[in-house]
Parts: sequence; structure tokens; C-alpha cells
Amino acid sequence: KVVAVIMVGGPTKGTRFRPLSLNIPKPLFPLAGQPMVHHPISACKRIPNLTQIFLIGFYEEREFALYVSSISNELKVPVRYLREDKPHGSAGGLYNFRDRIMEDNPSHIVLLNCDVCCSFPLPEMLEAHKKYGGMGTILVIKVSAESASQFGELVADPVTNELLHYTEKPETFVSDRINCGVYIFTPDIFNAVEGVSTQWKDRADLRRLSSFESLHSATRNAPTHFVRLDQDILSPLAGKKQLYTYETLDFWEQIKTPGMSLKCSGLYLAQFRFTNPHLLVSGDGTKSASITGDVYVHPSAKVHPSAKIGPNVSISANARIGPGARLISCIILDNVEIKEHAVVIHSIVGWKSSIGRWSRVQATGDYNSKLGITILGEAVTVEDEVVVINSIVLPHKTLNVSVQEEIIL
Ligand code: GDD
Repeated sequence: KVVAVIMVGGPTKGTRFRPLSLNIPKPLFPLAGQPMVHHPISACKRIPNLTQIFLIGFYEEREFALYVSSISNELKVPVRYLREDKPHGSAGGLYNFRDRIMEDNPSHIVLLNCDVCCSFPLPEMLEAHKKYGGMGTILVIKVSAESASQFGELVADPVTNELLHYTEKPETFVSDRINCGVYIFTPDIFNAVEGVSTQWKDRADLRRLSSFESLHSATRNAPTHFVRLDQDILSPLAGKKQLYTYETLDFWEQIKTPGMSLKCSGLYLAQFRFTNPHLLVSGDGTKSASITGDVYVHPSAKVHPSAKIGPNVSISANARIGPGARLISCIILDNVEIKEHAVVIHSIVGWKSSIGRWSRVQATGDYNSKLGITILGEAVTVEDEVVVINSIVLPHKTLNVSVQEEIIL
């Protein structure tokens, strides 16, 4: 049996995702019309003998309740949200819920970060993991040498794929192979986490005994409750024939910013061509709007037949797209209204916002820079004939003059 665990983090972790995370936990933000966490969850469905999926995070339970119950019904696999009272680190969070995770006595645990976008080759990884015979297998990808330092860099044996060396976000270049945040473990991972916790505790006790430190500073020095998977577990276990790597040649991105969510929405739409073509709008209906490339439109949204949509456009529930509107590379959230002849390019338009006639909301589309896409928060009104370029507009603002490269607070 196999169980999957998806680490969803919590509200304090989502600050780079503002203003979108003001309304919704980042893991539920829609990419290609589906909550971010839906993509790894549906990938788990391909794992043979999967019995349960757990989401572990420190968001309020109620924020996930609706999603978790609807996805459980849809997938016919129980999906449960387990809430930490406070952050325990990526390995600490897992360890905390070891009894729940082990209740079906699984032979393997699939562990996923929620904020990565990839094809999640999980059945293939599981097969490789069984062949290697170690405690864990890490999904790895080759990236450019310049970007590698934002991730865990690692070195693996080219023949055996054993993990030989691991450094988390190093200052000097180690390797262009990086940790994708997708793992397969045997239940021995819990012993490994327990091992480092006890080691720290023993060390702290010793220090306290030898130097008469106060109890307060001793507990501060013994963070047994906070264990990070990368630094605290992977680094020390490298080169000990316990960890192996599986390299993907497919797409992979990390989703820390709204800009990257727009890029990843496009990657998932492109993947739907092969996995879920029924979710994409086809451009051949003569009565429907003119569609180019990969486009998702929620069944409740209304798109005027004279609008031109795509590529990389996702339109959520109850949105209304008026006559002659032009949409390219954008995410239109629930209940948005885009009036006639408005243009939206490289932008995310927040819930209940409205874009006036002949207005333009656009950006250069540089996904990695802060103002590279335009973001309108919830309930922003852009009046008629107003141009908004490379800007971020916080919720509930009304724009009646044009702006460029501004953050409207
Ligand atoms: N439940 C819970 N509790 N989740 C957590 C906690 C915690 O205390 N801390 C982090 N997470 C979740 C995050 O939401 C995310 O999904 C994942 O664990 C990893 O987050 P971080 O520990 O902040 O690391 P990172 O995202 O900067 O980098 C990690 O992932 C990269 C791949 O995306 C590292 O493992 C890198 O080496 C790796 O390249």
C-alpha cells in the first residue's frame, strides 16, 4: 500500500504571493482552472495501491474542508487535511502525523511540496525507488547554473543514481541538478527524523549540564519540534546509500510568486492536451468565441461570441467576457466582468473585479520580475478607457486614471 502526503504550508509562508493570498490559501489558487494542489493530487491517482492522500499544513481547517470533501468524492480516494498547530518544518510536520500516515500500514510514502508544477512522474519514480532499495528517492531536474542556487543543489552517482552530496540553497555553485520537492520514502523516514531530534536533544542536554545554561536557552537550542527535510535530513544522509535520485526531463517549476502561477497555469493547460483534453475549449465551434491555443473556461462563465481568447487563458466561475474583448495569457478569477473591447494581456484579474470598456490591463510578461505581470486584487474596478501596465493593484481600489509600473496600495 502507498499513501501520499502533500505539504501545503501555512499563511505566513505565502507573503510573496500577495495580494492573491489575501483571499485564498495559496495551495487553493487556481492554475488552469483547478486549485494548485489539485494537480499533484490528481497525479497521485496514477499510483497503484494508493489508499489515502493527506494534506499537512497550518492553515485553518475550514479553509480546506470544502475542497477536501469534494475531491475525495471525485477521486474515490480519501483526501484528508491534517492541521499543525504551528509550523514544524517540512520533516517535523510529517513526523507529527506519523500515526495517521501509518494507520493503513503503507510500504511507501509519496511526499510532495504543494508549490511545484511538474508532470509528477510518480509511478515511474516508485518503480525506480524499489529498484534502488534505499530509504528515499528524490525527483531531480537539471536547471541553468544561474538559477540553481534558489533550490537544493545535489550531486548524484551517474551510474547508481545514489545521492552523494546535498546542499540547500548554497551561496557558491555546487551543481545544476536540483531537488524538485517530490519524494518517495519508506516508513524508515520517521526513524531518520526521530534520529536527528534525539541527537539535538542530547546535545542540548549536554550543553546545559556542562555550562549551567538556563532552562530557557536550553529549549531554544533544542528545536526538536522543527525539522527541515532538506537541511536536517537529506544533507546528512547523502553518501550513505540511503537516498537515490530520479531525474525528470519533463517540465518543472516552483510556484512562489503570482508571476510563476501564470506561467504554471500555461504549463498545466498544455499538459491537459494530453491528459484532460475535455477541459480545454476547442476553437472550432462557429457560434463560440474565437479561441487560440490552450484555454480553460468554467462552464458557468459567459464569453461573448465576438471575444478573442488565448493562448494560456483560464476563466473561472461566473466570469463575463464582453463583446470584442481580447484576452491573452491571463487568469480571470470568479465573478469578474470584462466589458466590451477591453484587452487583458499577461495579467491576473482578481475575484469580482471589473474592467471597463476599451480599457487595457497588461504587462510585459516577464514572469520572474515583480511587476512583470499585472495583478488586480479582489474587487478592483478599472473604469472605461483606462490603461494599467506592469502594476499591482490591491483589493477594492478603483482606477480612473492610467498607471504604469506602480503598486497601488
Ligand atoms: N505543513 C507544513 N509545515 N508545511 C511546510 C512547513 C511546515 O512547517 N514548512 C514548509 N512547508 C511546505 C511548504 O508549503 C512547501 O510546500 C514545502 O513544505 C517546502 O517548503 P520550504 O521548506 O519553505 O522550502 P522551499 O520551498 O524554499 O524549498 C524546498 O523545495 C524546493 C523545490 O521546490 C527545498 O526542499 C528545495 O531544496 C527544493 O529545491
